[in-house]
Amino acid sequence: MKKKQILIVEDERIEADNVKASLQRIGYDVCGIAVSGEDAFKKAEEMHPDLVLMDLVLQGETESVLAALKICSIFNIPIIYFEANENSKKLERARRTEPFCYILRPFEDRDVHSTIEVALNQHKIKNNLEETEKRYQSVVKNAHDAIYMMTPERFQYVNPAFEKLTGYKKNELCSEKFNFWNIIHPDDVKKIEKNTKNMGKNGIRNKEFRIVSKNKEVKIVKANTVNIGINKEVVEVGILKDITRQKNTELELKESLEKLQRTFEMTINALVTAVETRDPYTAGHQKRVSDLACAIANEMGLSKDKIEGVRLAGIIHDIGKIQIPYEILTKPTHLSKIESVMIKMHPQVGYDILKEIEFPNPVAQIILQHHEKIDGSGYPAGLSGDEILIEARIIAVADIIEAMSSHRPYRPALGIDAALNEVIKFKGIFYDPAVVDACLKLFHEKNYMLS
Ligand SMILES: [Fe+2]
Repeated sequence: MKKKQILIVEDERIEADNVKASLQRIGYDVCGIAVSGEDAFKKAEEMHPDLVLMDLVLQGETESVLAALKICSIFNIPIIYFEANENSKKLERARRTEPFCYILRPFEDRDVHSTIEVALNQHKIKNNLEETEKRYQSVVKNAHDAIYMMTPERFQYVNPAFEKLTGYKKNELCSEKFNFWNIIHPDDVKKIEKNTKNMGKNGIRNKEFRIVSKNKEVKIVKANTVNIGINKEVVEVGILKDITRQKNTELELKESLEKLQRTFEMTINALVTAVETRDPYTAGHQKRVSDLACAIANEMGLSKDKIEGVRLAGIIHDIGKIQIPYEILTKPTHLSKIESVMIKMHPQVGYDILKEIEFPNPVAQIILQHHEKIDGSGYPAGLSGDEILIEARIIAVADIIEAMSSHRPYRPALGIDAALNEVIKFKGIFYDPAVVDACLKLFHEKNYMLS
């Protein structure tokens, strides 16, 4: 390991040689001997020693304490003074100017060694601390988020991002006159007061509130704070993240989603109207089927998403009838075989109309399957059991109940009792037993009525 380089500052030659010999004995290199304050400064600049060992009483224009201060502050080199008299005024002054160490003459080698090692170590620690402090300052100063430190009375520190966020300068914010509550939106003051009371030493986490900047601009921030003890005082350290843009984007997104949802509902309603205008006898049929199917789905404990699928599919389940001639739809007598075939095409037609639309649920599939029966005797595919979507099995029951309860061109209304008897009769054959049970429970126990 390279030996530490030491500059001796001593104007008495014999004394300087003694000190040099002592330093060499204990393993240091003496890179030079300066004889005055000016000489010491010059040699420190040239040699950059690791440490300066300086006589406190020197001849010349620049006295030792001033030379030491210059060397220390300009070249960041630690200084050790040596002096014969512990009570000298110079030593008192040197102590006040923060020498790294001092040593009294006459000294032993081991005293010099330990004093130098302590001085070098202290210097290293001081440098590390300064480096850490610089890094910390740089991070805080350049942080994108607003950072502050405050006591209950006032701000102690704010970073540039805090000034930018609030529009106030650091000296305004940190002055005794500044009222912290001035920057909190009046409607959020109570919320913050409540949070401040309850936060304890752990501070607050991700709390959102509004602030009002100097030019009256309202901004939304997310706050994280922590309370720490500095010099026996509780200091709140906080970070405020400006989330105004993020919040506005979320709001715009929510509004456009709601608008899209409204447009979607209007489109669905237009489709319902399109079918029901051509088939006045089934006017309201799809809405009533949708309502009953949703009630059954809810009774069965289906998920929110599935219930929404039932609602949408129910409300347009007969959309395919749009392709069936008006005369057939409104025919007051029973249908011929060919007319029946045409009617039975409506699930497929409905599916073809809707299959390209990206519904959040399998609406087109549900509509395609709403005339399937669990024994496989339904249409168009003759699916059975679990091959049929649960939503379609629910709509099938709701559909027959509503249809039999209402008037049709070819027959009068048969009534709810006949409709319920029909699903009981074909429970487990045409209709899913769980769906039939849920439907019966609604009518028998929960007084459900078709609207
Ligand atoms: Fe149908």
